[in-house]
Amino acid sequence: MHMQIHHFRNLCLAILATTQVVCVSAQKPKTIAQKVDSVLRLMTLEEKIGQLNQYSGDWSHTGPITKDGDKQAQIKRGQLGSMLNIVGVEHTRTLQELAMQSRLKIPLLFGQDVIHGLKTTFPIPLAEAASWDIPAIERSARIAAKEAAASGIHWTFAPMVDISRDPRWGRVMEGAGEDPFLGSVIAKARVKGFQGNGLGRLDAVMACAKHFAAYGAAVGGRDYNSVDMSERMLHEVYLPPFKAALDAGVATFMNSFNDLNGVPATGNRYLQRTLLKGQWKFNGFLVSDWGSVGEMIAHGFVQDNREAAKAAISAGSDMDMESRSYLHNMADLVKQQQVPIALVDDAVRRILTKKFEMGLFDDPFRFSNPQREQAVWNDLAHKAAALDMARKSIVLLKNEQQVLPIQASVKKIALIGPFMKAVRDNLGFWSYEWPDDSSTIVTQYAGIVNRLPKDAIVHYAKGCNINDADSSGFAVAIAAAKDADIVVMSMGEARDMSGEAKSRSGIQLPGVQEALIKAVHATGKPVVLLINAGRPLIFNWAADNVPAIVYTWWLGSQAGNAIGDVLFGAYNPSGKLPMTFPRSEGQIPIYYSHYNTGRPAKDENNLFYVSAYTDLPNSPKYPFGFGLSYTEFKYAPMQLSDTVLKGKETLTVKVQISNQGKYDGEEVVQLYLRDVTASVVRPVKELKGFQKILLKAGETKEVIFQITTDDLRFYNEALQHIWEPGEFHVMVGTSSAQVETRKIIWQQ
Ligand code: NOJ
Repeated sequence: MHMQIHHFRNLCLAILATTQVVCVSAQKPKTIAQKVDSVLRLMTLEEKIGQLNQYSGDWSHTGPITKDGDKQAQIKRGQLGSMLNIVGVEHTRTLQELAMQSRLKIPLLFGQDVIHGLKTTFPIPLAEAASWDIPAIERSARIAAKEAAASGIHWTFAPMVDISRDPRWGRVMEGAGEDPFLGSVIAKARVKGFQGNGLGRLDAVMACAKHFAAYGAAVGGRDYNSVDMSERMLHEVYLPPFKAALDAGVATFMNSFNDLNGVPATGNRYLQRTLLKGQWKFNGFLVSDWGSVGEMIAHGFVQDNREAAKAAISAGSDMDMESRSYLHNMADLVKQQQVPIALVDDAVRRILTKKFEMGLFDDPFRFSNPQREQAVWNDLAHKAAALDMARKSIVLLKNEQQVLPIQASVKKIALIGPFMKAVRDNLGFWSYEWPDDSSTIVTQYAGIVNRLPKDAIVHYAKGCNINDADSSGFAVAIAAAKDADIVVMSMGEARDMSGEAKSRSGIQLPGVQEALIKAVHATGKPVVLLINAGRPLIFNWAADNVPAIVYTWWLGSQAGNAIGDVLFGAYNPSGKLPMTFPRSEGQIPIYYSHYNTGRPAKDENNLFYVSAYTDLPNSPKYPFGFGLSYTEFKYAPMQLSDTVLKGKETLTVKVQISNQGKYDGEEVVQLYLRDVTASVVRPVKELKGFQKILLKAGETKEVIFQITTDDLRFYNEALQHIWEPGEFHVMVGTSSAQVETRKIIWQQ
């Protein structure tokens, strides 16, 4: 067979009279690249541009929809390559059938924001990041992919891998938090989860690393705002999760709404063409964000949609989501020789390649099978995984006098707050609504009551709404608390208070929630406070006065069961914060890996001409990596294989951790490094490793980290990724603020 390959290579022809590309040579199947070329050769300029055009369907939408003509007719004319917001085998089949009526029968790609589940809603991505449990995060994405792929979806616009250090930005809920190391590990896991064992399988969807790039650094945390940052910061902090996604084989990238140092990301040639497609050799395709090609006019970067189309494709944006700039202008730009046809061909090639890889040319309806859709949606294993993930995402912030776990023998309990009986607020932003939600989403009330003894007395009071000034429900809540042995209050942000276009300048508990907490606390009953949110909130009074605080984020379909399990000790909380929690909005941006400055505030009682605020400490309310357990972990002093190392040697760091409490529990052991003196200043600490371990009560385990000079690398002034010899601090501990520090010397 192999000998014949060359003879027959050129005999292959694309026959597109049916939906299939057929190779007439039986000896050798064509490569995808050859198939793509054979399709490309048949395409008119208009059909090529059609492939670069993406519309939203009317089934649901996440932005303004331009009502400009009949989409169905456009599909039949081959003027559309992809659609978003079409969910379900029925809808996707209907539209794919139209594509099969176009001249070349090129199948449509259906993309969707499957951010944390589709039918089964998992915790929001920021919550999942709090688990630091990488296999669980991968499994969550795997299940989301299975449900999406069974519903006719080919492509998810996830993972969002934007680093963000500003909790005012509503989209922090979609990412993995503030840290490039944790963010990169999670980016990889999510891509692997979505793409499974490879594109073309019936349970895999294409992933999309977004938003390229630096969207999370919007000035003032205001969504869509400008970003201005040094190249070093870009490369060191904001780009690594994208590179990790690329290394994991991510199929697509999405660019972003922001301008970066004055150049909109969508028209940013450096980011897209030089770096991503050039140096990084990305061979998938790049989609714009919703309307971001046309928005370059408002940015003041181009005059009109024609210039926008030219700037975007020249910079490397392959597909135009919803701005129609390509559709209306690209043909003329090519005819007027303003845009080389080679650029259009390259973009079309990249898109067709993915359609071939997904198997859509073989069978455009292969993801549209109603039996499979039903079977996958009803898979009980998905519920179990969502519960597991939700439990692992919860962070215990405070537990004085061991209020938690609640004793199973509790006689009278008061359940108070606007989230207790809420249904969809458990899902958080970027989630879907289904007709059976009220029976499939487990409320917090149900999850808690299910754990109580049959004869326990339960008082329920909503107390207040999520976000208004009405305190008329306080009296009932206070009475409920007075007649209880313990009170659980569930407060926080409504489902649509964090997310896209949901930036907030104040991130305190909304409405009259804090007043209700104070009133209930004044009864003298022990209060457990659950905080539901899509971002770090500020709740200083509660943090200082309420004995037990559990940060639940938005936990998804299984929120109630997960919370019940944690409150009653069926699961020992193990989450650690993936973002720093500020004391006040005035501290933002706030992150653990800051520089030391020339005048560091070493002592919070002596703030004389040092880098500090006069009205509050520099330290956060809760540090990155922080989270308590019902048990107690004791760290023995770390052991280093050496304190003076040379070049290519490896430093081995060993630490023994003992569970000295009564409960089995998981601990996230964190390793940080500091480069004390370098040719550019380095952060006071940077996460370089972590391990999540399970320790039975009384058990001791040894955790081992291996460090090489690759872990010491940084971008120098010339943007070379190098390491420099000298003194380093090795830190191991339970959070970024609680570590043991040892000094080492690493020589050339
Ligand atoms: C705009 C968002 O920024 C992006 O993340 C999302 O994928 C698209 N809309 C499509 O909904």
